[in-house]
Amino acid sequence: MTSTTRSALRSVPAGPALREAEAKGSSLLAAVRAGLSASPKTLPAALLYDDLGSALFEAITLLPEYEVTRADLRLLEARAAEVGALLPGADVVELGPGAGNKAKLFLERFAAGRPLRFSAIDVSEAALRDCRRTVEQLPNVTVATTQGRYLEGLREVMAARRPGVPVLALFLGSNLSNFTRDEAQAFLTSIRALLREGDGLLLATDLDKPASQLIPAYDDAVGVTAAFNKNLLARLNRELDADFDVGAFRHEARWSASARRVEMHLVATRALDATLGVTGDVFHFEQGESLWTESSHRFRTDELQRWGLQAGFTTAAQWTDARWAFAHTLFRVQSGAES
Ligand code: AVJ
Repeated sequence: MTSTTRSALRSVPAGPALREAEAKGSSLLAAVRAGLSASPKTLPAALLYDDLGSALFEAITLLPEYEVTRADLRLLEARAAEVGALLPGADVVELGPGAGNKAKLFLERFAAGRPLRFSAIDVSEAALRDCRRTVEQLPNVTVATTQGRYLEGLREVMAARRPGVPVLALFLGSNLSNFTRDEAQAFLTSIRALLREGDGLLLATDLDKPASQLIPAYDDAVGVTAAFNKNLLARLNRELDADFDVGAFRHEARWSASARRVEMHLVATRALDATLGVTGDVFHFEQGESLWTESSHRFRTDELQRWGLQAGFTTAAQWTDARWAFAHTLFRVQSGAES
């Protein structure tokens, strides 16, 4: 392609590129146009997880500053057998399993060798491939994968559940953190509505802790989290033919005491314009203007129990990690409750 055609592609709506972007998921284009037109500018955190973003997140889980995943793994290892005793014979479905490492650790102890069906729901096809490969190493575990969003995926899995077999849903890794508190409550209610008497939900969430512990976890010394954040702009360059000068943005992690959340921002270090090649939309950034890319809420054990109750669950157990404030809450749809 000549440089003339190239610049023409950038200045006017590019037919084939636009159609390709729309086919790939008009949802990406629509979300980006809406978010970059908003004030303050914002993008949904789910967009951080393309294949490269998912790989960068896996690297985050290895950072010494990011204790979240290790706390989750410690609790899974310590409590899986107890969860198994509370939900004997259950099949398992995980929302957002990523590479499947947590599922493998959990299922080994939860099932203790008995046959079981494991269903994985994830937006990333690459993650589902990795997850299948990891979990299939376990004897007696049959793996099913569903590509898609949490609730649509769960609805599909539940429609195909084995009659008479209870289901344990896993929502781990503090993935609930990306929801606002209102959204989190509504999400728990939606999950409850898809479950039946005797089913359970194991919810793993990070808990309130001092900002001095949280900020380094989201602004690590090596810059992996900064790369994870900036990859979002690089992704828009790749998939929507945008021309963000990624190097002109700096990563920032902010603590909001009132909302009890860490916010990730990308701050423009100079005034600049960015064009979406696929549509020709131009977005202007002032120097110092931020693009808000993620919120990561912290929770309290009592509010989690209250939300579960409001959603129609009972709390069967709640465990916390001794080293890093993190909780596993096991909700159950109680026998006698109507579905
Ligand atoms: C996967 C949403 C739980 O909020 O801690 C990690 C994502 N962002 N570092 C989190 C994330 C920056 C993570 N969650």
